Amino acid sequence: MSDPERPLDPDLLKGYAFRVFGTMQGAVTAALIHLGDRLGLYLALAESGPVDSEALATRTGLNERWVREWLHNQGAAGLVEAQDDGRFWLSPEGRAVLADEDHPAFGAGMFDQLPDLMGVLPKLAESFRTGLGLPYDALGVEGARGVERGFAPWYKTFLVPTLIPAVEGAADRLRAGGRVADVGCGAGIALIELARAFPEADLHGYDISRHALARAEANRKEAGAANVTFHHAEEDPLPDDGSVDLALTFDCLHDMTHPDRVMHAIRGALAADGAWVIADIKAQPTYGENVEKNPMAAMMYGFSVLTCMSSALSEPGGAGLGTLGFHADLARDMTRAAGFTRFQRLPVDHPVNAFYEVRP
Ligand SMILES: C[S@@+](CC[C@H](N)C(=O)[O-])C[C@H]1O[C@@H](n2cnc3c(N)ncnc32)[C@H](O)[C@@H]1O
Repeated sequence: MSDPERPLDPDLLKGYAFRVFGTMQGAVTAALIHLGDRLGLYLALAESGPVDSEALATRTGLNERWVREWLHNQGAAGLVEAQDDGRFWLSPEGRAVLADEDHPAFGAGMFDQLPDLMGVLPKLAESFRTGLGLPYDALGVEGARGVERGFAPWYKTFLVPTLIPAVEGAADRLRAGGRVADVGCGAGIALIELARAFPEADLHGYDISRHALARAEANRKEAGAANVTFHHAEEDPLPDDGSVDLALTFDCLHDMTHPDRVMHAIRGALAADGAWVIADIKAQPTYGENVEKNPMAAMMYGFSVLTCMSSALSEPGGAGLGTLGFHADLARDMTRAAGFTRFQRLPVDHPVNAFYEVRP
């Protein structure tokens, strides 16, 4: 197996081809998950209980033949349950992951951005030649919406009850009108959750994506959150006056062209007794460890090329850390280089992210 000179093995060939087309099966099923989410098919299945394609088509106002083929794909992929009488239904787990937008395990939102992710492939082919990637805004409004819906379930369920209490003194500071800076805030969901729980706090979001900032402002208005302000991070940067009590960077440092500069800016913004919470992917220092410890490593490296590393290389000289590039040792070293002296991992459970508390 490990001999690079060995001749082709017909049995291994079959297994290899099966693996290759397994990725194609995943890709086309992902496309059909996107359609199921977009067309309300999962919601309808969650509400209806066992239905045949005719009933599901009627319920959703769609064409029966198309719905039937969609159900056959979803059943064959093990995502919906199929009965012998031709009816299909969504299991409780299926409802949580694909239909219940408020469940912490909800994942269908991630598939929102699929067409835009695939749409940039021709441009990314050029990136492989030039070395220059694409910023988040290249993924359009739907790209920003996909990130928003992908990350929102965790913020809605765990940010206020679990993460904030894990940071010593944070809740008291927020109740006392403390200032928060969420850098790389995306569509602002984390800040809006904080605004609901801490109406006295002074909450600020910073991002460079105009699509994300537009979504953030729309979300802010809809939530009626008067104590949240969003800023374009380049035009209206972080204050350099030690006025921030709590800084947040959630799933974004590895996407940044110059995370070192952003860390220095956070150091300048943060009060001497303030805290900075980093959420970033549970990455390992080496490729081998990432593959060994992360069953989704191939997906992560794929996302890196399509979004994270691409964004982190979207300016000449970009750091290009990428999805699995910001491991704990690097986080510790980089925060120390930016002038922070204390670094600890927080005991917060998350399937994908690690949480670090950093202090001056
Ligand atoms: C994966 S998204 C995460 C967004 C948000 N924190 C969330 O969890 O939903 C990464 C975000 O980092 C933003 N970003 C990248 N470079 C940035 C920079 N230099 N300053 C501020 N935001 C940046 C991107 O525009 C994008 O919105």
